[in-house]
Amino acid sequence: MEKYNFDEIVTHLKTTGYVYQGSEIYGGLSNSWDFGILGSFLKKNIKDLWWREFIERSPYNVGIDSAIMMNTKTWEASGHLKGFADAMVDCKECKGRFRADQLIENATGLSAEGKSFEEMDKMIEDNHVVCPTCGKHNFTGARAFNLMFKTYIGTLEDAKSVVYLRPETAQGIFVNFNNVARTSRKKIPFGIGQIGKSFRNEITPGNFIFRVREFEQMELEFFCKPGTDLDWYKYWVDYCYNFVKKLGINEEKLRIRPHDPEELAFYSKGTSDIEYAFPFTDWGEVWGIADRTDYDLGRHSEVSGKELNYLDPETNEKYIPYCVEPSVGVERLFLMICCDAYEKQKLEGDDERVVMHLHPAIAPVKACILPLSKKLGEGAQKVFEDLSKEFHCEYDEAGSIGKRYRRNDAIGTPFCITYDFDSENDNSVTVRHRDTMEQERVEIAKLKDYIKERIAF
Ligand code: GAP
Repeated sequence: MEKYNFDEIVTHLKTTGYVYQGSEIYGGLSNSWDFGILGSFLKKNIKDLWWREFIERSPYNVGIDSAIMMNTKTWEASGHLKGFADAMVDCKECKGRFRADQLIENATGLSAEGKSFEEMDKMIEDNHVVCPTCGKHNFTGARAFNLMFKTYIGTLEDAKSVVYLRPETAQGIFVNFNNVARTSRKKIPFGIGQIGKSFRNEITPGNFIFRVREFEQMELEFFCKPGTDLDWYKYWVDYCYNFVKKLGINEEKLRIRPHDPEELAFYSKGTSDIEYAFPFTDWGEVWGIADRTDYDLGRHSEVSGKELNYLDPETNEKYIPYCVEPSVGVERLFLMICCDAYEKQKLEGDDERVVMHLHPAIAPVKACILPLSKKLGEGAQKVFEDLSKEFHCEYDEAGSIGKRYRRNDAIGTPFCITYDFDSENDNSVTVRHRDTMEQERVEIAKLKDYIKERIAF
């Protein structure tokens, strides 16, 4: 299994305009990233594809777009106010703050997953764990650190005006269950999906865009009859895995990892992660699929006092639906796709090229139109204008044709279209394929359909 150096991939993404450091001219902001000219396209294409495959093409699902700031009772009901916290310790010497489980694991190789604060304190003591920054062994006891960002709504900064930035998009779906059921007239089973920003004050963000404090999620809450949930859980695990597989991700670097019973949340009947062998770790979570039972709708019914249940029109049975949730971060998918697509190829002689083997459906630029000579600008521009009505294309007339091919390989453009002197007479162009570097002559009149067929998902 070939793995490239992660720094090399990150440098490539930064230099080509996929990702920029956030607030760069002010020295940056810890672990904040901006998506550049190509990155914003890739992100948009990933989201559009998810929306098409999970919402538009599904006979079951509908989509919404709910607010980021929600009534604080939402987080009381979901358990985030109490339970969405990491155990942390502070070094009393250098004031460094660390996630207790990571500190222990890095120092001893022992897992602290599921351990109480007291048990973690004891592990730090017994193993004489030292601070990774200053090397001293002098920590506070472990305590909870809530990961939700807190702010105030309105002019007063008092307890009544506290609101949180949502740490997941899912709760905006649960609180709208009745609204969607009423306005969609969907029958169970049906799903509600949404794409949007989520915020978590992660103690240890890192690995570039893998773990960030501000990210986008694509979540589906799929409601079904109790008793059918495990079948639907399996259905959605397969559906998500196939989505990733269809993107062309190397299956040797992919696995589905079902959670051990002790890892499961108390309300979950099953959770699986789709993981990828990122260059910086053995396996990293990309997509989580969970059978959440009736926990969320049940809790919101309890706290809001509003019934969130379903009356089966055929059997007259009333029940709180069970929910299966596939949840994925856009940045995680983006990073997996880029790590998998990156290749440095040796060519003839000393020549080499960097090529991003992105699936054409999500590639930022679908085709680049290259006039062989500036004198051919008029005809080449016409091809560009015509194709641009359908796909995002670029026009490049600067430098040798070889250099222009390399530039496009490096950003993942699947097709380079050369307009040459013969084009003026035979109304055809040469299409060069990014992955194979093979070339073929295609009539200009057939070009649109030719590309359309080859970029389909
Ligand atoms: N509603 C369920 C939920 O939010 P999660 O496992 O906490 O579950 C789901 O998050 C997905 O969101 C993860 O699999 C990952 O792709 C993405 N994600 C979570 N935290 C993230 C972070 N700090 N930075 C980037 N992506 C993140």
